[in-house]
Amino acid sequence: MSAKNTPLTSVTVIGLGAMGRALAGALLDAGHPTTIWNRSQGKGDELVARGAVRAATAEEALRASELTVVCVVDYDAVETILHPLSDALQGRVLVNVTSDTPERSRQTAAWAAERSIAYLDGAVMVPTPLIGSPDALLFYSGSQEAFERYESTLKVLGGKAAFVGTDPGLAALYDLSLLDFFYGSISGLVHAYALATADGVKAADIAPYLHTIVQILPPIAQYTAANIDAGDYPGAQANLGMMAAGVEHILHAARMRGLDVSQLESIKSVADRAIVQGHESHDWASTYEALRGRN
Ligand SMILES: NC(=O)c1ccc[n+]([C@@H]2O[C@H](COP(=O)([O-])OP(=O)(O)OC[C@H]3O[C@@H](n4cnc5c(N)ncnc54)[C@H](OP(=O)(O)O)[C@@H]3O)[C@@H](O)[C@H]2O)c1
Repeated sequence: MSAKNTPLTSVTVIGLGAMGRALAGALLDAGHPTTIWNRSQGKGDELVARGAVRAATAEEALRASELTVVCVVDYDAVETILHPLSDALQGRVLVNVTSDTPERSRQTAAWAAERSIAYLDGAVMVPTPLIGSPDALLFYSGSQEAFERYESTLKVLGGKAAFVGTDPGLAALYDLSLLDFFYGSISGLVHAYALATADGVKAADIAPYLHTIVQILPPIAQYTAANIDAGDYPGAQANLGMMAAGVEHILHAARMRGLDVSQLESIKSVADRAIVQGHESHDWASTYEALRGRN
């Protein structure tokens, strides 16, 4: 049979929250036979109208397809649904794109391994409107064999399907690392607006100039990674002592305006510890040594 005539993989989607519905919708768009199940009734009518089969029970849903994608609120919910049904998953492949910690991913992988269930852990890195697009990034880790066998199906969910390793905790670790950066950044962004608006400047007046900062981040991300991996922080262009003084200026101004300065105090405290450790003339990346508690 030619690749063109090969039937598309049948897929079950467990969990029809905003993300589960988007994943099932992408599978339907690509023509995959798709079975759906959700704890509460009343979700997924539009998917059924587009050709999805609604299973009456979770067990029926798992038995309907060779590949199951589960996407629910957290791993407690995953366990509530799947633990009583391990027999129905035998010989099938489970892809769990629910977000949680690497530790929970590894526990679930161990549970699956004890029951001979092929397990791929995943993390969705884009909002629902991007699901199904070539640029949508999803991380996967765990069974490399399962990833390679179903890669074309997984790319239907997001064209950038990145397998990051056989340790099943790695997809969650990459997810949390990116989100660590994201939440630190948007928290700083809101604080920046609070500083400006405290003196009557509109946030919208500051916004157009933020590009200057945003545009220097990609090269900073590259050389900071290189510095950390090498354990070498040259500090030729900008040094930590100068930058810590800059943080002190922001702290002073924010305190004068009665703003919450807890995030800035944490930033300053880490920079100060790195300076005490001897990194004053090094790059900001040297604060990594203070974060890790090393000299
Ligand atoms: N939405 C996004 O933009 C986005 C982006 C990236 C990653 N994610 C991740 O995708 C996952 C799902 O997010 P979502 O936006 O779809 O969440 P959601 O809209 O809140 O849906 C939550 C889903 O979990 C189910 N659920 C909750 N508790 C359960 C339980 N005890 N037993 C069985 N099912 C249970 C819900 O079922 P009921 O309908 O019965 O309540 C529903 O299907 C999360 O891990 C989230 O971090 C979401």
